[in-house]
Amino acid sequence: MSQLLAPKPNLSPAATAATASANTASPAAAFDVARIRHDFPILGLSVAGKPLVYLDNAASSQMPQAVIDRLVHYQTHEHANIHRAVHYLSETATAAYEAARVTLQRFINAPEAREVIFTSGTTDSINLVAQSWGRQNIKAGDEIILTVLEHHSNIVPWQMLAQEKGATIRVVPMNDAGELELDAYQALFNARTRLVCVGHVSNALGSIHPVKEMIDFAHAHGVPVLVDGAQAAPHLAVDVQALGCDFYAFSGHKLCGPTGIGILYGRAALLEAMPPYKGGGDMIHTVTFEKTTYAPIPNKFEAGTPPIAAAIGLAAAVDYISGIGMSVIAAHEHSLLADATEQLAAMAGVRLIGTARHKAAVLSFALQGIHPHDVGTLLNQEGVAVRTGHHCAQPLMARLGVAATSRASFAFYNTHADVDALVAGIRAVQKVFA
Ligand code: ALA
Repeated sequence: MSQLLAPKPNLSPAATAATASANTASPAAAFDVARIRHDFPILGLSVAGKPLVYLDNAASSQMPQAVIDRLVHYQTHEHANIHRAVHYLSETATAAYEAARVTLQRFINAPEAREVIFTSGTTDSINLVAQSWGRQNIKAGDEIILTVLEHHSNIVPWQMLAQEKGATIRVVPMNDAGELELDAYQALFNARTRLVCVGHVSNALGSIHPVKEMIDFAHAHGVPVLVDGAQAAPHLAVDVQALGCDFYAFSGHKLCGPTGIGILYGRAALLEAMPPYKGGGDMIHTVTFEKTTYAPIPNKFEAGTPPIAAAIGLAAAVDYISGIGMSVIAAHEHSLLADATEQLAAMAGVRLIGTARHKAAVLSFALQGIHPHDVGTLLNQEGVAVRTGHHCAQPLMARLGVAATSRASFAFYNTHADVDALVAGIRAVQKVFA
């Protein structure tokens, strides 16, 4: 295994433009991070007597006051069950829930609101496709293409399906920087290939994968593509029509929204042809003991009382984020990534893991001779929150030849002072072990 030493970060065109024009009227220059931070009450906390430096955004991002207020307003003035009654509160809650669907539709530029299914999160979205589309379309001998960088939630559902059906999982390899090997991807296709499932952005390394090229190639072979967008939707403008993907999954809690809510976008024709995933109330047209007929999409896939408040809260989060603008967010986060990469790469005893040319603001690293869990524990004593462990990506850790990494992941409300605090924290950790 070669050393994964960090070169200077190779920024995307958007980031380069933002860095080059920092003193002009660029979106990055107009971005007032201090003002934004006031919107997030939790960022004012102290941890271990130090100001909180929250760098675990790839796990869960924080919630602005506007989302908290929206949730309180819903619970105070609008709450009832939806789609079931003609009384005022039920109609108010139904209208807010369906308006949330339209907000999410616009956020990802889906052609129709009925192509947006509310789920409990990315994991639920992927399981829905595996258990519904997968059980209907995957047969013995078929092949499903995944990548070595996938999160467990984009591996295990397909493995369960493959075991049930006698299908095979094929894995796209990566280079030492954490970039997918596209030649190897293309070479995996054959007459048995039925589906490609790829993360848009790696949660563990931050690599942004060339999903548009991968989708175009798969479609040229008649193969549909599911994109796990859990780590992309908070950081990049997602346009499912421009991507041309067949399914796109993401979560609310990484997008400044509540936990327990996620999205599955699917092409209407695919969703209409798929059987329901869960049975229950609100997903039916008629029920007798002999036979049930199902509601049209999206209700067919939303059995039972859905997470109404969470969906409305997620829409408020999307409104908040859209008010800042995804290009502004991407530019600011890339400047943080460039700063953190440069500073950590210059530190003795620090090895950056994952140095793809196109990255979101995620930095995995190892400190020489110090276990990642000790790194996380000691950084916490400095008020710095990072994630340590295998990041739900054990096959990737095996490929990297490590059991775990420490991971700092940034959001638009992080600052260059947060980067400096991470660097100072790492120095403090190294001093303990010196
Ligand atoms: N998927 C989340 C992470 O990467 C939990 O931390």
